Amino acid sequence: MRIDVITIFPEYLAPLELSLIGKARQDGILDLRVHNLRDFTTDRHRTVDDTPYGGGAGMVMKPEPWALALQSLLPSGDHRIPVSDPVVDQVSPGERVEPRRAGDPARVEPTLIVPSPAGEVFDQALAYELAEEGHLVFACGRYEGIDERVLEWAAGANADGPYTVRPVSLGDYVLNGGEVAVLAMVEAIGRLLPGVVGNPESLVEESHADGLLEYPVYTKPSSWRGRDIPEILLSGNHGKIAGFRRDQQLRRTVDRRPDLIAALDPARLTKAERATLADLGYAVVGGRLSLIQPPPGVLGRSAEP
Ligand code: 6GU
Repeated sequence: MRIDVITIFPEYLAPLELSLIGKARQDGILDLRVHNLRDFTTDRHRTVDDTPYGGGAGMVMKPEPWALALQSLLPSGDHRIPVSDPVVDQVSPGERVEPRRAGDPARVEPTLIVPSPAGEVFDQALAYELAEEGHLVFACGRYEGIDERVLEWAAGANADGPYTVRPVSLGDYVLNGGEVAVLAMVEAIGRLLPGVVGNPESLVEESHADGLLEYPVYTKPSSWRGRDIPEILLSGNHGKIAGFRRDQQLRRTVDRRPDLIAALDPARLTKAERATLADLGYAVVGGRLSLIQPPPGVLGRSAEP
């Protein structure tokens, strides 16, 4: 997979040299390049922002440096503008971007991901979807954001832009810019690429793989500071252990993420899973799981006689 990140803070992306993602880059699974937006400015001060039309607080990112940067990443792009950054990989002047590699997916047309609190929410399903793509470009906005016409232009509203444009948010809170969001998204996507995670089994069991949170895990010693691990984990009965873990997943998800319970398809639940959910006060109403009884603890101890 090819990933390009455009930012005014290339150093912010340095952690992508580390750990599993750094290894994937070394192994040639991930071709990730970071570009400094200021290399695509043409004025002496390398200006990337200006005041907003219509007034309001803060500054807006000027459109032309973005257009030049995004253009430079296309196979037909113009690479005459020199780029240089000592910290990270760069596209050399004159170098063509070749997103298609042996074994890459058929879709090499680039997707432009614009990190923004105003985007669709990034989740595991979107990570899997984007991991199928051949070329992702992340446009890190700062200040109040990027001039909206850049997104329209890149999406081809004027027949110029060959990008599929997707504003994407990490969740309902505000960051100062897209860089931290890109670190999170590249890690979530990159670890799904074949060969990045050593044991692909670990992708199957983890949180969100099946719409539920992960079960709690324990390691040695079996008794620690007066706390024993659940006895069943020592039983050697793999069927019972699997059932126990499933039960723990459901209880934890009810407790921490009831929104995920509401999104489950009741038709795909086993008898044991239905029993656990019934125990936790859920029943199927109109094809959906609904809380029909307050969960234990919600009424509080004071409600007990
Ligand atoms: Cl993707 N960007 C910014 N700037 N803030 C965010 C976000 C993204 N996701 C949540 N907050």
